[in-house]
Amino acid sequence: MKNPVILTGDRATGPLHLGHYAGTLKSRVALQGTHEQYLLIADMQALTDHADRTGLVRDAVLEIALDYLAVGVDPDRSVICRQSGLPALSELSMLYLNLITVSRLERIPTIREEIASRGFGRAVPAGFLAYPVAQAADITGFRAGLVPVGADQAPLIEVTNEVVRRVNALAGEPVLPEARALIPETGRLPAPDGRGKMSKSAGTALPLSAGPDQISAFVRSMFTDPGHLRVEDPGRVEGNVVFAYLDAFDPDREEVSRLKDRYRAGGLGDGVIKRRLDQLLQELIRPIRERRALFAGDPAQVLGIVKGGTERAAERTSETRRRVFRAIGVGALTVSA
Ligand code: TRP
Repeated sequence: MKNPVILTGDRATGPLHLGHYAGTLKSRVALQGTHEQYLLIADMQALTDHADRTGLVRDAVLEIALDYLAVGVDPDRSVICRQSGLPALSELSMLYLNLITVSRLERIPTIREEIASRGFGRAVPAGFLAYPVAQAADITGFRAGLVPVGADQAPLIEVTNEVVRRVNALAGEPVLPEARALIPETGRLPAPDGRGKMSKSAGTALPLSAGPDQISAFVRSMFTDPGHLRVEDPGRVEGNVVFAYLDAFDPDREEVSRLKDRYRAGGLGDGVIKRRLDQLLQELIRPIRERRALFAGDPAQVLGIVKGGTERAAERTSETRRRVFRAIGVGALTVSA
């Protein structure tokens, strides 16, 4: 069977960071060799909580495109596109909004948590509450079968598939495919202080453009085991931020497991594991930073890539819109017999 089409995206609220790299950017680069893949820069979705900051959202489109290219996304194999240039997605959203209830949206764990943590209450922007519906339009608009996303986004794929089943039932034929989430093995990276996850809004993110000193300062600020005062003391590996990062990035699993044993037994200093991690992250980020700087020197070329990708994506998504509207009998200029 042919490989499923992949669609994934990022909210255009600022540049991406190391957490995105460990989460899905790395796998997108790997999948582009075998799958038809679309990467959506979600600037419309960004407006659901940044409606008064359109300038920031506009600038973030270029930043995210730079991040994609910097990590090795090849625009000849992956289609990089911009959501606001794809009106068919908005049209599908308007249709789908009638197929999902407000109470269903309010029950989605991520939505509940985000509404609570931002203190929106009943003053939540309607577009924010409904962004899972817009995301269903993104996914189905590309007729995607596979969606690489973090674990927190998995419930949104369920909502998408509820929409798919309703549309197919209305149409009386399988006009849309169901989608499957592809969840990364490495969970989200912790913040350097171990409280919460790496996040740009919390100021705990390491950008993909980080310089050598910024990387070193980031590693130095990591919490290890507060009980590990002297090198000879036995140390804890669980909840130790440095080991969490070594687990995520160190290709030498055996050496990491030996280091863990030595750390637990006592006699291994924090400096040693931090130096190892610092070196790893320096080697990982240096080529990304250098490629990013190269592309950043030619923004016209990068925006041209986004424009070309958006044109290709517009063809695919408007074809979906046409099929769905026709299949369920919306928008035809005819009278019922
Ligand atoms: N909600 C995703 C995020 O927070 C971005 C996104 C928009 C997305 N549309 C999508 C992800 C479709 C996967 C599929 O970054």
